[in-house]
Amino acid sequence: MRHASITTSDTPANGWRTVRRVAPYLWPADQPWVKRRVVFALIALLVAKLIGVGTPFFYKAAVDMLAGEGQSAAWMLGAGAVGLTVAYGMARLMTVGFQQLRDVIFARVAQRALRALALQTFQHIHAMSMRYHITRKTGGLSRIIERGVKGVEFLLRFLLFSIGPLALELLLIGVVLAVVFDIWYLVVVVAVIGTYIAFTFKVTEWRVRLRKEMNDQDTDANQKAIDSLLNFETVKYFGAEGREASRYDAAMAGYEQAALQTSYSLAFLNFGQSLIITGGLVIVMVMAAIGVQSGQMTVGDFVMVNAYMVQITMPLNFLGTVYREIRQALVDMAEMFDLLEQNPDVKDKSDADVLKVKVASVRLEGIDFGYDANRPILRGVTLDVPAGQTVAVVGPSGSGKSTIGRLLFRFYDVQAGRVLIDGRDVRDVTQESLHAAIGVVPQDTVLFNDTIGYNIGYGRAGATQSEIEDAARAAQIHDFIASLPEGYATQVGERGLKLSGGEKQRVGIARTLLKNPPILLLDEATSALDTQTERDIQGALALAAEGRTVIMIAHRLSTVANADKIVVLDQGVVVEQGTHSDLLARQGRYAALWQRQAREEEEEAA
Ligand SMILES: Nc1ncnc2c1ncn2[C@@H]1O[C@H](COP(=O)(O)OP(=O)(O)OP(=O)(O)O)[C@@H](O)[C@H]1O
Ligand SMILES: [Mg+2]
Repeated sequence: MRHASITTSDTPANGWRTVRRVAPYLWPADQPWVKRRVVFALIALLVAKLIGVGTPFFYKAAVDMLAGEGQSAAWMLGAGAVGLTVAYGMARLMTVGFQQLRDVIFARVAQRALRALALQTFQHIHAMSMRYHITRKTGGLSRIIERGVKGVEFLLRFLLFSIGPLALELLLIGVVLAVVFDIWYLVVVVAVIGTYIAFTFKVTEWRVRLRKEMNDQDTDANQKAIDSLLNFETVKYFGAEGREASRYDAAMAGYEQAALQTSYSLAFLNFGQSLIITGGLVIVMVMAAIGVQSGQMTVGDFVMVNAYMVQITMPLNFLGTVYREIRQALVDMAEMFDLLEQNPDVKDKSDADVLKVKVASVRLEGIDFGYDANRPILRGVTLDVPAGQTVAVVGPSGSGKSTIGRLLFRFYDVQAGRVLIDGRDVRDVTQESLHAAIGVVPQDTVLFNDTIGYNIGYGRAGATQSEIEDAARAAQIHDFIASLPEGYATQVGERGLKLSGGEKQRVGIARTLLKNPPILLLDEATSALDTQTERDIQGALALAAEGRTVIMIAHRLSTVANADKIVVLDQGVVVEQGTHSDLLARQGRYAALWQRQAREEEEEAA
């Protein structure tokens, strides 16, 4: 991911894209209150700047009056030196006051925009396909959102209220200097600011690349840490703490190197900026000093020039940081927007219908499929599951059984053939309606880090406690839960690690029973259970299967003997199908498997 994203960092097109993406939040057609706030904030900004630029005049007038120089206007004489000093203080205070007012007015617009953007990104990630999710790393994804949203926040705050105002202020001050003194002051100021900006931008470009490298190293180190911590059990099994530590340390060493370069370059930038700005300040002050010596200017003029130069310097000092942060923000946002612009490869058609399941028949028709184009997994698979019947899919590990379930749920699209539900191609209906029609008990159930009750209730939004308990009873897990000190409020731990494999599996069954879908897909739903519990649950599942269409994937053939039809899959090809007794009579692959398993069970019993 490092190399993929480096190319997309800092082209002007990205800046433009950001404006396009963020602007609608600042000027939404349907929310006049947002527009009103933006306008008021801009007015407050303008007022603050006008007062700010006028402030040094009071200062100059007070100095001139104290020094008894210059021709003071009548209003100044009226105010007196003390009055002018107080007015100077008031003006400064009002500048700050209006600045803060601007921030207060704008804060709500900015926060609302951030929330909307974070939500949009989150939803988008959920909409991405299975293929995307299993190749991306979750830790990396959440950091991209986090940094991207921060970037937008920064941009809103600083581009609108720092760069813009700064340009306005520089313009106003330049005009004042040219009008009040002479054009040479303006020339020097423009030259200094021009050099300063050119230097800052140039060095910052270079630093942005360093920062990008640092970011990538940071993401990399983080992913390694998260992956390692998630696998802590495996790490212990293989005594690999040392290996993990050195892997993490290697990633952190990369980060250290990048971070060092970033801070060295910052020192260079800061010093260079200071050199340019101080040089400019000294030149202008020397010009003014000569003017005072030759009697063309007053002492008040001298201090006013100084006041303006300081007024320019402060925000310019800031400019370095702001520009750098803005470039950084653009990089971070580019990553987020790249993500937002990625299209899921499984997508609803624009004219997709809502799937209305009537009888819930399922048919796979001549399916060819591979996760990668060059490695076929299913070849010419045709499978009929008539409405209300139970069809079992059996076969060796890796033969493509779970893959069939994923295709039915449309986690992936087939390369050839069709998947039909009630005669409708799953590609012609919305994924939402398709997913609502199918209940899946996956091969390995993963739970949310919350309570057991929450995890079962997840099956149907708004399920009541008694519905949750009924589902738990049907899945043979109610008694176990009731025996826990905290009952349904027991925390299951991350990914459900505090439960045994069989308990997790029964929670998975319970939540699917609660969903109550017309089509059930059971992928080794009872594989982690002992024979007795399995038999109990099989009973519950048989009850649940009544009136439903069920596809049951199983290893232990004894659990599927009652199915209406059994399909034997081998290396992605259907090799046999029929009822249990048909298949036994045929003396083929199934019969051989059955005899072997029967013998094994006997041995176990003995
Ligand atoms: N996301 C994936 N990308 C690439 N290959 C995959 C992916 N998922 C599964 N496979 C491969 O597809 C083949 C079929 O996998 P599948 O999960 O369907 O097997 P299965 O029949 O359910 O096996 P088991 O009985 O062990 O669960 C396997 O060889 C597996 O390596
Ligand atoms: Mg499987």
